[in-house]
Amino acid sequence: MCGIFGYIGTDNHAAQKTVNGLKDLEYRGYDSWGIAVRSPRAQELYSRKNVGKISGVAEKDFANIVGDMSIGHSRWATHGGVTKKNAHPHFNHDKTIAVVHNGIIENADVLRRRLSEGKRNLFVSETDTEVIPHLIDYHMKMGKSLEDAFVATCGDLKGRFAFVVMHTESDFLLAARSGSPLIIGKGEGEYFIASDIPAFLEYTQVVNYLDDGEYVKLNRTEARFRSFHTQKKIQKKDIPIVFNKEAASKGEWDHFMLKEIVEQKDSLARAINQDDKAIKKIAREIQKARGVFLSGCGTAGKVCMAAEYFFSVVAERHTNFAPSSEFPIYHHFLRPESLLVAVSQSGETADVLEAMKVAKRKKSKVLSLVNVSGSSVARASDYSLLINAGPEKAVASTKAATSQLALLLLIAYATAGKLKEGKELLIGLVGKINDQLNPKYLEYIKKVAEIIFRENDVYIIGKSANYPMALEAAIKIQEVSYIHAEGFAGGELKHGPIALVKKNTPCIALLANDETKDDMLSNVAELKARGAYIIGIAPEDHALFDKWISVPDVGAASPIANLIPIQILAYYLAVLRGNNPDMPRNLAKSVTVK
Ligand code: F6R
Repeated sequence: MCGIFGYIGTDNHAAQKTVNGLKDLEYRGYDSWGIAVRSPRAQELYSRKNVGKISGVAEKDFANIVGDMSIGHSRWATHGGVTKKNAHPHFNHDKTIAVVHNGIIENADVLRRRLSEGKRNLFVSETDTEVIPHLIDYHMKMGKSLEDAFVATCGDLKGRFAFVVMHTESDFLLAARSGSPLIIGKGEGEYFIASDIPAFLEYTQVVNYLDDGEYVKLNRTEARFRSFHTQKKIQKKDIPIVFNKEAASKGEWDHFMLKEIVEQKDSLARAINQDDKAIKKIAREIQKARGVFLSGCGTAGKVCMAAEYFFSVVAERHTNFAPSSEFPIYHHFLRPESLLVAVSQSGETADVLEAMKVAKRKKSKVLSLVNVSGSSVARASDYSLLINAGPEKAVASTKAATSQLALLLLIAYATAGKLKEGKELLIGLVGKINDQLNPKYLEYIKKVAEIIFRENDVYIIGKSANYPMALEAAIKIQEVSYIHAEGFAGGELKHGPIALVKKNTPCIALLANDETKDDMLSNVAELKARGAYIIGIAPEDHALFDKWISVPDVGAASPIANLIPIQILAYYLAVLRGNNPDMPRNLAKSVTVK
């Protein structure tokens, strides 16, 4: 949530660089944006902020702003509405200190009251962030250097944060991390700092990760890391980055979402291309664990719920799914022999990290599946596997979700001692998805979207592992098209939800060619009898369907095959309704707040 960018170097166009970098971070938040620049000899920091998306801002408008040190921010509002005043950076009273921040300062109200004593109108925004520059200012007025005041401020703050600080009179940037990501990019005579790597990838491919409890002091030639608890020095290894900028750019595509959907041709193959030894080791951990828990949020949560079925059906292994925000309630069941499998595309989701903390407190082991290497989730795990989906920029998760599903299905097969069989099934799936994801298929699903895009409600049903996919289908449709969509287990309809169905209500049925098929067809018939317009996503057409979207017949991998046309449908529903599917309202890609 929120994108942070900072630059210090010899280029006097730091402002332009910052705006450019923020554009790559916009997926993290797009309510408003702002930058601050330190210009030589200026008494105050220069700043410009506005509501709206940074993508609409021209870099050339910043060409005549001179300064070789700058910080910027793209916001997803938490404290205070979407206004210019609440946009970052935030400043102290004299505008000598600027701060950009990601996260939530939980004790902001207490700190605000304390700082405001005897001072009227000290705060100009409603944000929690604004306490940071005022705290630094307070400590400096008490005689501390900027760095010492910064460290003291870190100690004053409760909550999750990543922030960067710039001062008019200091030739360096300071940045601290406690829970929210910050990565340092090392250039020639220049340093970058950002919430995510693509923001500076065109300038450097060498990075250092800031860990929780650490801060960095960046000047043009050196990055000095220390603990903000003990001030002890920390040595970091330079890490080369392997992905290229192109993979994280839209190219010829209208939207990242469609690009990423089509990329599933390759991303699925990468997900299952794992080291057999590593998968077998994980399988052994699952076999010997007393209590296996699967947890993630939103789409990743629905993937975990599907995996609960995978482990049951494929490996006859009992596992427990809980959304990460609910997981702490299960702490009574955790013990040192338990295993938490945490699934997260970004690896930065606060609720997932909190679930992991709870498991760690009980000394349980944690296995994570992430898409971002070096992410907080990966680093805090006992074992971690990369799904290798490549950068996912659209807010709605698509290729990451199917990669997570594929890898979890592979692990379920390995747990059953059938890794080879699982691999063969998934390799077969990859080939079939490759054949299927062609322009004709997209065009066909667009036509289906044209039939239903004006509707107010859509219902989706599934059974077994396709039940969580019905829930995931609802998320996809809700978040990008804003149509009211709900997913149900097919057999649950008659216990209440069927009362919602009227003549021509679009109902989507996710079918597999397995033992669930007949029951599902009965549920479809129940809907049809109430006049529903049935869209069947299934390996075979059926007389009950008004529209059939074909999917390959892929056995236990059916949830993966069924999810892809849903993603395409959600995409076209969004476009037909005039929405930008890449940046849905009220959402952000990486949810680093609880
Ligand atoms: C929906 C979506 C979200 C994420 C959720 C978890 O399309 O993308 O529901 O799945 O916020 O994010 P990660 O996987 O980064 O932990």
